[in-house]
Amino acid sequence: DGKYTVTLIEGDGIGPEIAQSVKDIYSAANVPIKWEPVDVTPTLKDGKTVIPDEAIDSVTRNYVALKGPLATPVGKGHVSLNLTLRRTFNLFANVRPCKSIAGYKTPYDNVNTVLIRENTEGEYSGIEHVVVDGVVQSIKLITREASERVLRFAFQYAQDVGKPKVRVVHKATIMKMSDGLFLNLARDIAKEYPNVEFDAEMLDNTCLKMVTDPLPYNDKVLVMPNLYGDILSDLCAGLIGGLGLTPSGNIGDECSIFEAVHGSAPDIAGKGLANPTALLLSSIMMLQHMGLTQHASNIEQAIFATLAEGKALTGDLGGKAKTHEYAAAIISKLNA
Ligand code: IPM
Ligand code: MN
Repeated sequence: DGKYTVTLIEGDGIGPEIAQSVKDIYSAANVPIKWEPVDVTPTLKDGKTVIPDEAIDSVTRNYVALKGPLATPVGKGHVSLNLTLRRTFNLFANVRPCKSIAGYKTPYDNVNTVLIRENTEGEYSGIEHVVVDGVVQSIKLITREASERVLRFAFQYAQDVGKPKVRVVHKATIMKMSDGLFLNLARDIAKEYPNVEFDAEMLDNTCLKMVTDPLPYNDKVLVMPNLYGDILSDLCAGLIGGLGLTPSGNIGDECSIFEAVHGSAPDIAGKGLANPTALLLSSIMMLQHMGLTQHASNIEQAIFATLAEGKALTGDLGGKAKTHEYAAAIISKLNA
């Protein structure tokens, strides 16, 4: 029927409500997408968190998924389901654009940078053990293979979106071997992209400079190992108004999962109060990734116009609107 099928992982807590907004806005905008909802509630198999086969098959078949927040299951043996998804599908690059939203006032204007986080290893490798009582080791695993592919992705991304510079963010003075490898590989890969400038900066210094003045980062794509990207992307989100407004995409060679990075907000779940913007903006990244650029820009301008107008904002943004009222305001601003 000429439609793309996209796997929908609605998620926990406010997940179903914000997913509903996406579905409503997409049907109003005539986006040629058929949603395939899946349940990713994990089961424990041989001490490992595993995702149901139906969910894995769906993402594998459709290549693209949109994902709401998943509460991390508690209990021994369970690792974060979010991480399990990234690892299961080898989603090696986590792309986190950070762009100011007109109408949502923060101390910073016109922020427009992009952070790319290695998404499969580093401190997230989950290799930890007790050496003796009171002494533990958590392994930060850095491999040439994973580093090269995320670095190459970052250079290619910079070239594609027209950002002139790639900056590696690291702490190679302390993590001499792991960050040293990452940094040296970046220097090598930079040679493959003579049109993209390359430099490096220490993570602590990046944090200091970004909160002082983020504008010098607007011409850059920042690329870094996993945990640094986790932390720095929250800092970046803080510059523009928080995790409720920031999109992200987990990109792999075979498939990609676009997700809202915020939590499942159990305190407001089921009350129709949630802000769906992060999931919506993640879905815009998804549409661009799928080549549905007209639909992407139509919905995107409607979201930004609604936020700029400020009449139908949800509680987290200082408004009084319910989730469905915010979605209706966006729908009213779609181009026919
Ligand atoms: C993120 C989140 C996750 C992470 C959590 C939920 C495991 O904070 O996507 O940034 O640490 O990567
Ligand atoms: Mn995080």
